[in-house]
Amino acid sequence: MDRQLALEFVRVTEAAAISAARFMGKGDKIGADQAAVDAMRKAFNKVRVSGKVVIGEGEMDEAPMLYIGEVVGRGGEGVDIAVDPVEGTTLVAKGMPGALAVLAIAPTGCLLNAPDMYMDKIAVGSRARGKIDINAPVTENLKNVAKAMDRHVNELTVIILDRDRHIPIINEIREAGARIKLINDGDVSPALSIAVEGTSVHMLLGVGGAPEGVLAAAALKCLGGDMQARLIPEGPEDIIRAKKMGIDDINKVLYMDDLVKGSDIFFAATAITSCDLLDEVRYFPGGARTNSIVVRGTSATIRFIDAIHRLENEPLHSIKL
Ligand code: FBP
Repeated sequence: MDRQLALEFVRVTEAAAISAARFMGKGDKIGADQAAVDAMRKAFNKVRVSGKVVIGEGEMDEAPMLYIGEVVGRGGEGVDIAVDPVEGTTLVAKGMPGALAVLAIAPTGCLLNAPDMYMDKIAVGSRARGKIDINAPVTENLKNVAKAMDRHVNELTVIILDRDRHIPIINEIREAGARIKLINDGDVSPALSIAVEGTSVHMLLGVGGAPEGVLAAAALKCLGGDMQARLIPEGPEDIIRAKKMGIDDINKVLYMDDLVKGSDIFFAATAITSCDLLDEVRYFPGGARTNSIVVRGTSATIRFIDAIHRLENEPLHSIKL
């Protein structure tokens, strides 16, 4: 893909973040999501690609969300899109850190096409690539990752969603001696921290959303990290939905190349609320300031983009960036 597209993709996440951040702390996660979707859709249609959403927050009948199968872009190279206009809707509604407007792009056929369902995930940065096994006990993974990173297990920090379903893994991690950061929501921003390195988090474990899994995988793939995953159907309907998208074996381990094929990938995210690497959207009279990251898989270059936008007299969803 043309490397100049990087900035075009960032404009899309910036537009979504600026629109969603207006809702920070207002207890209205649907409003935040809708504002981001509207802004994102509009911004996408100025980008020089023929894009198709292959994994995201909803299917056709859940429109007006950016639904799986939706075609966006103003024409150009065919690309797959994984997208979450607001990753962490509850975080925005409560004004808590870690919410992103985020997308990943790869040539057609290179991103996992799957319904919005649960996914079990294990992810690490580049130094532990090849050392994880989703079928192995947590303790074994911790030992192997610690060894690869030339440290003790008690010098590893694992990120995990604070959910009852994770109590057994949390207990196992604690017994093994590793440190834990429990998060309330939003497992893409910690995956990004793991991918970038130097942020003192080393592993992501547990069950979260599948779209978030593919987005995390894209960031990790760009930067040499590793991830394994498995879809977790909640019932027979999920199995049928997955089959319709070409997934015959729902229990199959999804390796990095099943999640994100090749290295011709872009990952872009703008912080709605602050995270390890990015400051939240800040408004000022007549404008807003955003912090974004864009990574290109073929070069592994990480760009941090600090932008000041003039928004005078602009209805939020038609902001010109
Ligand atoms: P939303 O942005 O759709 O609210 O998702 C946030 C999120 O926390 C994801 O980051 C995570 O993967 C998933 O939800 C976890 O799902 P659940 O809250 O059902 O455990």
